[in-house]
Amino acid sequence: MASGTTDRKIDKLIHLLVKNATVVVPGPKIATEIGVTRSTVWMYIEKLRALGVEIKGHQSSGYQLQKLPDILAPSLIRQEIGDSPIGQRMVHYFRIESTNSAALELAAKGAAHGTVVVAEEQTAGRGRFGRNWYSERSTGIYVSVILRPPLAPAAAPVLTLMAAVAAHQAIGTVTGLPADIRWPNDVLVNGKKVCGILTEMSAEVDRLHAVVLGIGINVNHREMPAELKSIATSLRIEAGRSYSRAQILAVLLKELERKYHLLLDEGSGAISRRWTAASTFAEGKRIRVLTGAGEYFATTVGLEPTGGLRVRREDGREELLVSGEVVEVK
Ligand code: BTN
Repeated sequence: MASGTTDRKIDKLIHLLVKNATVVVPGPKIATEIGVTRSTVWMYIEKLRALGVEIKGHQSSGYQLQKLPDILAPSLIRQEIGDSPIGQRMVHYFRIESTNSAALELAAKGAAHGTVVVAEEQTAGRGRFGRNWYSERSTGIYVSVILRPPLAPAAAPVLTLMAAVAAHQAIGTVTGLPADIRWPNDVLVNGKKVCGILTEMSAEVDRLHAVVLGIGINVNHREMPAELKSIATSLRIEAGRSYSRAQILAVLLKELERKYHLLLDEGSGAISRRWTAASTFAEGKRIRVLTGAGEYFATTVGLEPTGGLRVRREDGREELLVSGEVVEVK
């Protein structure tokens, strides 16, 4: 196990407490079942309490969960995803700089297709264009998925659209909120961003070695920081209620698995059709295009199967956007 990752024994402890949620589990029983001393059990319990997991009791009487914990523990997620290959191997951190950086390192060391890195908190979460990703503890989902697709590097933009379609579907399914996708891969609710995706890869000229899909979802934030409030929101802010992050993550991983197979079986056209159906940005949207060289106004004309967005400038010229950012003009 990589250093700094959550001890598998804590994961076992969470699983044991959840399995026996209605009863007091004696300390010695826990110690024997997970293979540690009673004082280590106590230390683990304190660590979980510090994360907001409500556990009643103490060393002498035993421990009892007060409420199902919303923690992204691998044993709890795996229970939900069954034998879906994405997520069978999952590395969990309470705190890490960036799950994408950890996933890239694991990929370089040969981690298998479908390996997932997840954290309760990121201290240096990375966004697109070198920005930071606000990663408050235990409120958002910070996850990176390693894929090893049998595809050429030119297919990378479609993998990003695929991740957006999966995230859009997962958010919509669990919350029922009206989610939208802004090109290329931001998920918005009521015009504000709730989910961002950072795709990174290692490749040769003609072959992708590994792709890391880094997905951040603002789930239970009560408030966004002042500087983000006008452009970002959380599912809780929009719905007025909180959600199980574990449930959203499990649905997301299952959706990624489905969309990945759709891509391999039917090709990029199947993904771009799903994207087009999910996004109000696909056609007829007035936008401002932000590029390294400046910005201009345009109207969207349609998504190409390769992932590029066709737009018409105000002077009638058409352009194909392959990178950059767009903003809706109201
Ligand atoms: C964006 O700028 O919209 C992309 C944000 C991506 C954030 C996620 S959180 C999990 C993963 N780890 C990171 O450091 N970044 C991505």
